[in-house]
Formats: sequence, C-alpha cells, structure tokens
Amino acid sequence: MKAAVLNTIPGDLEIIDLQIDKPGPREVLVRTVAAGLCHSDLHFLDGTFPFKVPVVMGHESAGVVEAVGEDVSYVKPGDHVITCLSVFCGHCEFCLSGHLSICSNQRECNRPREAAPRLSLHDKKVYQFAHLSSFAEEMLIHEHGLVKIREDMPLDRAAVIGCGITTGTGAVFRTARVRPGSTVAVIGAGGVGLAAIQGARIAGANRIIAVDMLTPKLEIAKELGATHTVDASAGDPVAQVLELTSGGVDYSFEAIGLKKTAEQAFGMLRSGGTATVIGVISPGVNVEIPGMQFLMEKKLQGSMMGSNQFRTDMPRLVDMYMDGRLKLDEMLSAHLTLDQINDGFAAMKRGEGARQVVDFN
Ligand SMILES: NC(=O)c1ccc[n+]([C@@H]2O[C@H](COP(=O)([O-])OP(=O)(O)OC[C@H]3O[C@@H](n4cnc5c(N)ncnc54)[C@H](O)[C@@H]3O)[C@@H](O)[C@H]2O)c1
Ligand SMILES: [Zn+2]
Ligand SMILES: [Zn+2]
Repeated sequence: MKAAVLNTIPGDLEIIDLQIDKPGPREVLVRTVAAGLCHSDLHFLDGTFPFKVPVVMGHESAGVVEAVGEDVSYVKPGDHVITCLSVFCGHCEFCLSGHLSICSNQRECNRPREAAPRLSLHDKKVYQFAHLSSFAEEMLIHEHGLVKIREDMPLDRAAVIGCGITTGTGAVFRTARVRPGSTVAVIGAGGVGLAAIQGARIAGANRIIAVDMLTPKLEIAKELGATHTVDASAGDPVAQVLELTSGGVDYSFEAIGLKKTAEQAFGMLRSGGTATVIGVISPGVNVEIPGMQFLMEKKLQGSMMGSNQFRTDMPRLVDMYMDGRLKLDEMLSAHLTLDQINDGFAAMKRGEGARQVVDFN
C-alpha cells in the first residue's frame, strides 16, 4: 500500500509502497478514504519536534473497516469510522475519570517492541505517527483509536472531525465550557481556530472575535460565526480586542502555537476570564504573563485534543454537520491526491485555505 513517509527531519514526504501487517487481536485494519492536513504534522516535517524515522505521517482521517482482530467486537468489516489519536487504555486514572485525551497508558495500545511492526519496508520497521499514520491507503490501529459513525456522513467531511474539528470545538465545549451569552476571542483562524469559532457559535456566545493576519482567513471566520474580526497585522491585537469589548473577553483561545499569541490570549481577558492555549508551542519556549493579573481571577490553561471523549463527541459532531449546524463544506478548501501532499503543506505554510484533505478514492 502507498504511504507518505518522512525519512529525514526536517524533510518532505516521499510516497513509498509499504507493507502493512494483519490485525492483531485488538486491532482494526481500515481502508483510508480521506485524511486531513493538520499543522501538527507540519511541526514534525519542519523539525520543531524530534521523532523516529522513517515514519508515516498523518493523524486526521476517516475510512472503512476492512478487517478486525479476533477480540474486536465494536466494529466489523464495512463499518465507517473516524480515527482519533486520543487512543485510550480505558483503565488508568485519567480514563476512569473521563479524561481520555490525557490517558497515561496509551503505550499499552501499541504493539510491544519485540512484536512484528504494524508498518514495514523490506522487513524493517516504519514508525507509526500518533498511533494512526493516516497518510496511507490503509491504517492498522488499536480498536480504541476509532469511532463508528453513521454511513450517510461523507467521509471527507468526517476526516476533519478526526483532529481539527474535535480539537477546536472540544476546547470550547469541554476544556473552557463556554457559557451562552459570553464574549469569545479566537487567535488564529486556521482549521483548528475556525472550529473553535464554530464551537463558540454553537455554544451560544454573543460576541465572537476572530484574530488573524490574513484577510481571507478573517472572511471565512465571518462565514462560520465570527461577529467581529481583528487584523493582527494592523496593530496590537490585544489593544484592538480590549477596545472592541470595552475591557476584554470572557474566553480566549490561542490556535497557532506561539509564545507571543499565547501571551496575547491572556492579555485580552476581562477579570475572571479564561485563556485556553490549543496551539502546540515548541519545546523549550516559555510563556510569560504578568503575575499580578491572577488577582483578577484570570485563568490560563491548555487543551489536548479538545479534552475529548471522542467515542461520544465525534458522532455528535457528525449529527451537527448533518443537521446543518456544524459547517464543514466551507472548511474544506482543497482535495489533494497523495502525490500532491507536499504541495498541500507548502500551501499551509503560506497560510492558504482552511483545511485540505487527501482523497484516497
Ligand atoms: N492541542 C491540540 O490537541 C492540538 C490539536 C491539533 C492542532 N493543534 C495545534 O493548533 C495549531 C493550529 O493548527 P491549524 O492546523 O489550525 O494551523 P493552520 O496553519 O491551519 O492555522 C494557523 C493560523 O494562524 C494564523 N497566524 C499565524 N501567525 C499568526 C499571528 N502571529 N497572529 C494571528 N494569526 C496568526 C495563520 O494565518 C493561520 O490562519 C498548531 O499549533 C497545531 O499544532 C493542537
Ligand atoms: Zn491535528
Ligand atoms: Zn488510560
């Protein structure tokens, strides 16, 4: 099967024919139908984070079950699924208290080191990224890395729920628990930020301020629910948001992954407000905030994959799309073939489009 392999870091992806093993007892073989390009993949391609190579990248996908291991009863061949990197063990303290996205025992869902690898090239192991490796015609994943969905859901739309949509909406619904009537700012209107904007609209926020440096992004943000926009290239976005809101927002979300914008997210809060950092900040980078501000009961928190419980969250997001409340058609800016994947990441670097998906059909 064909897959997009990262052989050097930093580097481009190479399309290579790989071997994929048969499912072990609790594994599922999935035929990939669509896989989204997320900026988290780009952080690894760019060398911001270390990783073992060769590795098949990609972690936002949907497909159809081809085969299941002998102990799998949750899905059967032919079922439509969305994958999720929040593979959960189901019995650690985090899983048992409902915090599946920070499961402390994910390693248990991988194959043991001495076992045959899931992916290989000429009998040599090829690493799996985020327990999934979605930029491939097939995926071999633990049964706790996927959720079954209704079959009338288009699978390219379903794919983007696999990371970006769940992350952005989950940060709003679950991590921050945005209240109806509140005022929200989202810094960064890429795939994840636009999902947070939609989450804020669905949660009933009165005012939703989108902050980005690119006009086309701010235009899409308005289409998806932003009531106001702030061009960060036209002056200090904190000052602009404070002026727009006469003193700050109840909730802010950072969806880029920079020290500066994380600090801006905190800086634009009103007293009692909560800033949620979704963007992945490079290792070694510290975020600095004025300590006095804690007296005003301002809060700063992180969010991993939208604090999801994806087995229940993703089917609900699918229903929201089918009901017309969650807008995904507007977010799919390009369909690519696997061979065009490096062009897709180049476009992401230039800030073009909202979300691109690789189509495997
Ligand atoms: N926490 C999680 O679980 C999680 C999950 C998925 C993605 N992420 C992270 O979220 C971030 C966003 O991902 P994405 O796929 O939406 O990225 P993206 O590239 O699609 O979007 C980033 C957006 O930020 C804007 N931007 C860049 N610099 C800016 C600045 N200084 N001020 C204002 N806007 C600016 C860009 O114009 C772009 O619209 C990444 O860091 C990604 O790794 C985190
Ligand atoms: Zn992602
Ligand atoms: Zn666990």
